Amino acid sequence: MTTSLSAVIHQVGDPDVFAMEQTEVKAPAANEVTIKHTAIGVNFIDTYYRAGLYPVDLPATLGDEAVGTVLQVGEGVTEFSIGQRVAYSAAKGGAYSQYRNIDVNEIVDVPNGIDDRAIASSLLRGMTVEYLFCRLHELKADETILIHAAAGGIGTIACQWAKSIGATVIGTVSSAKKMVLAKQSGCDFVINYSEQNFAEEVAKITKGNKVDVVYDGVGKDTFMRSLDCLRERGLMVSFGNASGKPDPIDMLELAKRGSLFLTRPTLYHYTRSREELVESAQRYLSMLEQGKIKINIGKEFALADVAEAHRYLLQRDRIGSPVLIP
Ligand SMILES: NC(=O)c1ccc[n+]([C@@H]2O[C@H](COP(=O)([O-])OP(=O)(O)OC[C@H]3O[C@@H](n4cnc5c(N)ncnc54)[C@H](OP(=O)(O)O)[C@@H]3O)[C@@H](O)[C@H]2O)c1
Repeated sequence: MTTSLSAVIHQVGDPDVFAMEQTEVKAPAANEVTIKHTAIGVNFIDTYYRAGLYPVDLPATLGDEAVGTVLQVGEGVTEFSIGQRVAYSAAKGGAYSQYRNIDVNEIVDVPNGIDDRAIASSLLRGMTVEYLFCRLHELKADETILIHAAAGGIGTIACQWAKSIGATVIGTVSSAKKMVLAKQSGCDFVINYSEQNFAEEVAKITKGNKVDVVYDGVGKDTFMRSLDCLRERGLMVSFGNASGKPDPIDMLELAKRGSLFLTRPTLYHYTRSREELVESAQRYLSMLEQGKIKINIGKEFALADVAEAHRYLLQRDRIGSPVLIP
């Protein structure tokens, strides 16, 4: 039995609902390992659970991704051994803790030479870009795409990945400082959408041809205008709600704009099997290992300061994604 300090919520609400509590971690069951966390990721989905936008069983220890070392292995575990460095990113809770037990099907081995904080602050985002570009739709060198919030966590990974494929990338950002970062991440064109109508700019940049795919993690504020950026039979990928969830849509809007395709995917449906999860993580981690994607490690917070980390994540002018150090 190990004692772990965990950030627990007993009700949904603002970031102050977190309470630090001592919890008992039992010996791992069959096919489980006990992990000692070294770095923990903080994601928008955690804020959706904490605020009540997505349903959660209470009390709950939130957090879906972390890096750590295996402390103990349960019966039947052969793929992982004590002392091994591992990570996970689609765990549906439990990461905001010093120690936890987890099913071995949820975890992956991590290569040496990549900082724990870089992995913990980017694995979920990187695996998201992996399924968006490699499996939801296989992005090709001759395609032109629009990525919103191009200087954000997913945005900077997506721009670098899309450039390594050879696609033409148009990014949107809300400030001059972020325009520089989006360019550095590989955007061919950057639009400051707090000052310019991005649909009109996309039409100008593409000489009226518009884009093949829009990747929209901003949601409410951009959704309808994103549809205006697509060529006939283009693909609208609405994958996030950073500005709030999009309003309901009349299906005829898709027909009117040229028989558009619309999907609202989540990572969890693209990591259903062990094979998919491992393949997604390995593809992303190998992009990091090869130096094709570089991560700006964001601000670090102590686990006990998780409320501050949530507030920080939601600050629009932030650069880099936060990481909790237990
Ligand atoms: N579906 C999936 O599988 C999946 C997986 C992971 C994450 N996501 C989603 O992807 C989105 C991006 O996640 P991330 O962690 O990489 O975040 P992020 O991009 O680092 O931050 C969100 C960005 O959204 C933009 N934004 C626009 N309006 C905003 C507002 N009202 N408040 C705050 N930000 C606003 C900001 O960029 P500008 O200032 O440049 O506008 C901000 O930097 C989130 O919605 C998240 O839920 C989805």
